[in-house]
Amino acid sequence: MTTLSVPFSTERLLLRRFTPDDLDDLYAYQGLSEVARYLYRPPLTRERCVRSLARRAAGTAWAEDGDDLVFAVCPVGEAKVVGEVVLKLASARAGQVEIGWIFNPAYGGRGYATEAARAITELAFAELDAHRLFARLDVLNTGSARICERLGMRREAHLVENALDDGRWGSEYVYAMLAREWKADRA
Ligand SMILES: CC(C)(COP(=O)(O)OP(=O)(O)OC[C@H]1O[C@@H](n2cnc3c(N)ncnc32)[C@H](O)[C@@H]1OP(=O)(O)O)[C@@H](O)C(=O)NCCC(=O)NCCS
Repeated sequence: MTTLSVPFSTERLLLRRFTPDDLDDLYAYQGLSEVARYLYRPPLTRERCVRSLARRAAGTAWAEDGDDLVFAVCPVGEAKVVGEVVLKLASARAGQVEIGWIFNPAYGGRGYATEAARAITELAFAELDAHRLFARLDVLNTGSARICERLGMRREAHLVENALDDGRWGSEYVYAMLAREWKADRA
């Protein structure tokens, strides 16, 4: 079984588990339509955020397909949650791990999402034995594409009109990186 050292810090951020006390901060960004725009679902209601926090506090397993680890991201020295990063075990057998991020736009453009994503990329490869890390994102989500590229991921697929969102056909990019590519990149 993998034991993670949580919370952990980066240069400017603390990554920790969510708690029920984070409701206001979570709803402040998950409730915005501009945040949900490329997530293929509506913004979360406050009630959905309550349920999501309960699930996040309970879910720390990392063994079976579908297990996920969601981290609240707080600037060091501030109690405030400014966003979240997530790792999801897409295939335990094949070491396939999906990475994702959602941030409060009030804290955008400071590199926080990239810094937190870089930290969990390291977690995925160095501690969780990921073989391949991938991200799926709407082709219009240029901020996310830039994060993938800063992490050193390759754009390896362009899925055309594979999703339907509120009457709009969505197309997605898949970005990915293998463990050996991550190691070579760091060397
Ligand atoms: C995707 C998302 C996280 C991107 O946010 P972001 O603010 O662009 O990302 P970062 O926090 O990493 O900030 C990066 C920017 O900060 C800038 N920056 C400013 N100060 C910086 C610093 N000290 N260090 C690093 N970067 C800094 C970078 O140059 C970069 O700018 P650029 O994108 O114009 O090149 C955000 O738009 C979001 O949460 N969207 C809604 C949810 C979503 O779509 N999630 C993804 C689903 S696949």
